[in-house]
Amino acid sequence: MTPTDAAQTAADAPEPAPGRGGGRAGARIRPARTSDVGPIRELVSPLADSRVLVAKEAVAYYESLQEFRVAEDEGGALLGCGAVHVMWEDLAEVRTVAVSEAARGRGIGGMLLERLLEDARALGVSRVFCLTFEVDFFRRHGFEVMSNQDAIDPQVYAELLRSHDEGVAEFLDLARVKPNTLGNTRMIRAL
Ligand SMILES: CC(C)(COP(=O)(O)OP(=O)(O)OC[C@H]1O[C@@H](n2cnc3c(N)ncnc32)[C@H](O)[C@@H]1OP(=O)(O)O)[C@@H](O)C(=O)NCCC(=O)NCCS
Repeated sequence: MTPTDAAQTAADAPEPAPGRGGGRAGARIRPARTSDVGPIRELVSPLADSRVLVAKEAVAYYESLQEFRVAEDEGGALLGCGAVHVMWEDLAEVRTVAVSEAARGRGIGGMLLERLLEDARALGVSRVFCLTFEVDFFRRHGFEVMSNQDAIDPQVYAELLRSHDEGVAEFLDLARVKPNTLGNTRMIRAL
């Protein structure tokens, strides 16, 4: 096993999430499996209806399953999810970060996000973007509000325009997705 393999194995090991008062929330983070797609969609669906998250077809979740991590309780019930989507050599997006309402405020979202940032580091990117209403949450994890588009090289911008991904369109702030992004804040974090 190479050192990279060993690091990846360690990164894939389930881990408990801290609960309030330093206790354990009984949650663990692990890579998503195909059987998680149903519960992920149930978690995301109301958030997509209210335009907090991007609405996607079931097939899109299966196709991007390797991007996802989930948080589950001791009984294996889904508590949260999140994904990291590579956009360019140095850039990825953290997307679809969600924790069920009953499980919020226990550090599970923070743990998911930190794990996704580790995944992004392992993939080789140096910046991570997100589009969110949860500005304080992301700020606590090192994200800053993007003042303008100058974080993207014009040549890369032109290449990204070729993408069919809705999240990339939102990153580029294209007119056709503006109704979906109204009120969201564009944030970025250096790794
Ligand atoms: C954003 C979101 C994922 C956060 O999930 P979460 O599990 O509640 O996140 P955390 O518990 O790590 O942090 C949330 C709060 O709990 C507090 N908290 C975390 N761990 C704690 C602990 N051990 N003890 C006390 N408080 C704690 C944090 O300070 C934070 O405070 P806030 O309420 O002022 O934000 C969740 O609110 C959500 O699903 N939102 C809808 C989807 C969304 O907007 N996603 C982002 C765009 S991709």
